[in-house]
Amino acid sequence: MKEVRNYQHKPVLLKESVAPFQFTAGTVWVDATFGGGGHTRALLDLNPDAKVWAIDQDPAAAQRAQERFPNELANGRLRLLQGRYGNLSQLLADQGVHQVDGILVDAGVSSFQIDDPERGFSFQSDGPLDMRMDTKGGLSAADILASETESELERIFRDYGEERYARKVARAIVQDRVTRPFLRTSDLSGLLQRILPRDPHGPHPATRVFQGLRIAVNEELKDLERLLRMVPNLLKPKGVLSAISFHSLEDRLIKDFTRNWTAHCVCPPVIPTCARCGHPIGLITQRKPVVPSPEEIELNPRSRTAKLRVFVRNSEELREAAVLDL
Ligand SMILES: C[S@@+](CC[C@H](N)C(=O)[O-])C[C@H]1O[C@@H](n2cnc3c(N)ncnc32)[C@H](O)[C@@H]1O
Repeated sequence: MKEVRNYQHKPVLLKESVAPFQFTAGTVWVDATFGGGGHTRALLDLNPDAKVWAIDQDPAAAQRAQERFPNELANGRLRLLQGRYGNLSQLLADQGVHQVDGILVDAGVSSFQIDDPERGFSFQSDGPLDMRMDTKGGLSAADILASETESELERIFRDYGEERYARKVARAIVQDRVTRPFLRTSDLSGLLQRILPRDPHGPHPATRVFQGLRIAVNEELKDLERLLRMVPNLLKPKGVLSAISFHSLEDRLIKDFTRNWTAHCVCPPVIPTCARCGHPIGLITQRKPVVPSPEEIELNPRSRTAKLRVFVRNSEELREAAVLDL
């Protein structure tokens, strides 16, 4: 068994994100991003009979689950599946589960991953340029830097990292990799420090490029979109989606999907006349996302960009009441 280092992950917006989950007999919830189990713990603690299916694509999550939840795993209150939440319907269907009462998503990386130099997520310490959450497969960040075209690298840094010098960075990487491959985090952060201007009041010059690369390596936005497409069918009536995001690209996706589900007409645009007008899929509980308090940010600076949006699937009775003033 791999040695477990003593990293910690502080769950973000913990009370706020589990508050909408209401227990009734037979309730089954999904924590789509187990991480260190902070939100799973809070869901299980809502009721001694609550059951949680936890998902994480990082194989290292299994060992953390064994250490933290030996009793719940043994008595079946908690089940952990290794996989991507973009395949959630299939992962659950394989276990005979077709609908659930709530889904919690706390997107992005955990502190276990960022703080471990061997995972290659951080420019703060040297390590292999990996960045895969699922270490069992897929291309690493080093593979992408070695193989992608200049224009694709530029797109990754621009679209996923929102890096204004995306073209300059892509060009420098393509020029340099001919003589020296980018294999370590320090190879890339060294280049970025050399070619990007340093703003004494802004983030480290490597921040955006590392973010863009991480999103590309893990196909984070694609997977989030796949998950969101499944949510209406996966949730039982009155089921809850509680979704925490950490950057504007994720939040925009969640906002757009949840707003669409609250629209009065949910007929696909190809249908010339509306067949189910007045039947929104559900409602969102607040127009503005919930953000961490100044106290939470003080205690956990990594929470500072977090945003929580909550969506509730309609039941028949709720349909009438689901007219939202947006
Ligand atoms: C922010 S952490 C979650 C922390 C957790 N809520 C806690 O309190 O300990 C995100 C976790 O989700 C996992 N993850 C991220 N994207 C995923 C995806 N598309 N499919 C499955 N797991 C994913 C990561 O490996 C990481 O462990």
